[in-house]
Amino acid sequence: NLERWVTALVIRTYAHEKVTAFASAAPKLHVINALSDREHPCQALADVLTVRERWGHCQGRAIAYVGDGNNVATSLAHAAPRLGISVHLACPSGYELPGRVLEEASHGAREGAKVQAFVDPREAVAGVDAIYTDVWTSMGQEVEAAKRRRVFRPYQVNSALMAAAAPGALFMHCLPAHRGEEVTADVLESTASVVFDQAENRLHTQKALLLMLLS
Ligand code: NVA
Repeated sequence: NLERWVTALVIRTYAHEKVTAFASAAPKLHVINALSDREHPCQALADVLTVRERWGHCQGRAIAYVGDGNNVATSLAHAAPRLGISVHLACPSGYELPGRVLEEASHGAREGAKVQAFVDPREAVAGVDAIYTDVWTSMGQEVEAAKRRRVFRPYQVNSALMAAAAPGALFMHCLPAHRGEEVTADVLESTASVVFDQAENRLHTQKALLLMLLS
């Protein structure tokens, strides 16, 4: 029915398999993943537009992602290295990105960009041009929230961690953020924070994505 009614379908769900099942069941539809438990590619489009606006040419830049090796981290690792941006991933043991994602990310890397996994957030952020974090408990993982608060505590982005990055480094977050958990309020509201540019750029990049697919 959907193939007869619409040209594109935007799905925001939990199980990634639902998105792929829709796409294979309806090959005439453009199926857009607006967030699954595995990937968040539309966010990554907004993220790379945001850093391009700030940095212009991106070759040689580096972003450290600190926290849960989740959907947002996966899509950042997929997208940023394609623009020549190195990605450092600092995730606690047991919460890392799957090896498959690191391979895909390295495979897509251009202009000398590297994808590297770390455990220690201080090592990951040393000298980088931006620090990115996301919630410790994603949608659908609410029962794990107490445990995750303990595990991720050393991965909070605060002013001390920002100070270990390059001077002028940006702070990035897909929002909504939890002040005092993955990021302190002073960092979220600092001049380094580009979180509302990222949010605005969801609008522009998602309009561009639809235009590209429909034209
Ligand atoms: N990792 C988060 C992103 C929210 C935009 C989640 O999946 O809930």
